[in-house]
Amino acid sequence: MRLTFLITAGPTREYLDPVRFLSNASSGRMGYALAAAARRRGHRVILVSGPAEPAPPKGITFVPVTSARDMLRKVEENFSAADIVIGAAAVSDYRPGRTQAHKIKKKARSLTLTLTLVQNPDILAWAGKRKKKKILAGFALESDDLLENARKKMSGKNLDLIVANSPSAIGGRSASVWLLRPEGAAVSLKNRAKSFLAERIINETIGIWKNRQAR
Ligand code: CTP
Repeated sequence: MRLTFLITAGPTREYLDPVRFLSNASSGRMGYALAAAARRRGHRVILVSGPAEPAPPKGITFVPVTSARDMLRKVEENFSAADIVIGAAAVSDYRPGRTQAHKIKKKARSLTLTLTLVQNPDILAWAGKRKKKKILAGFALESDDLLENARKKMSGKNLDLIVANSPSAIGGRSASVWLLRPEGAAVSLKNRAKSFLAERIINETIGIWKNRQAR
């Protein structure tokens, strides 16, 4: 069975002016490892990615984006083709209220500058409302009450699987994570290469997909 994976990855950039943006330290490695793992198993992959460090894996459909709103648009466009959707992107929750067309100049007399930010759309929550038979997986990056907050996120976004990790996972080649399902106990995977974690997560989503079809 050849499935189609729609995977988001990398950070988003939210521009203040032509040269400055708000973003985060995501390297995109986890999302790219997921795309490569799904591809290795012979599945179709659409990777919607913000500006990330790795080169896109070969043999996939690569859709580069910049902001959270661009990312949502591309996810919307590709959503109906997907069997399994994985949100691995570190989407900026907020963006500047307005993007200036010209570079913001420093005002000699202003020692402070106040930015007004507005909330970005939640891409996975959007997908969760429309998923029907699709399988949805996401990540939860939490500095406190990891498992409790991850479970809340999983039910709030209507996910079938959530990968919970702490901020130390950002940017590295390996990570310690928990895999959680709506039912059952959390599974701990300590200090594993992201490529190993990616194989495991892809297998997990395929297993859930097969169960759902059998019902
Ligand atoms: N996500 C998304 N769109 C957003 C924010 C997050 O699709 N605007 C996805 C991420 O790809 C990830 C999951 O939702 O799979 C969790 O993101 P996270 O930033 O940890 O959680 P938030 O829902 O933003 O909550 P908070 O920042 O308050 O912890």
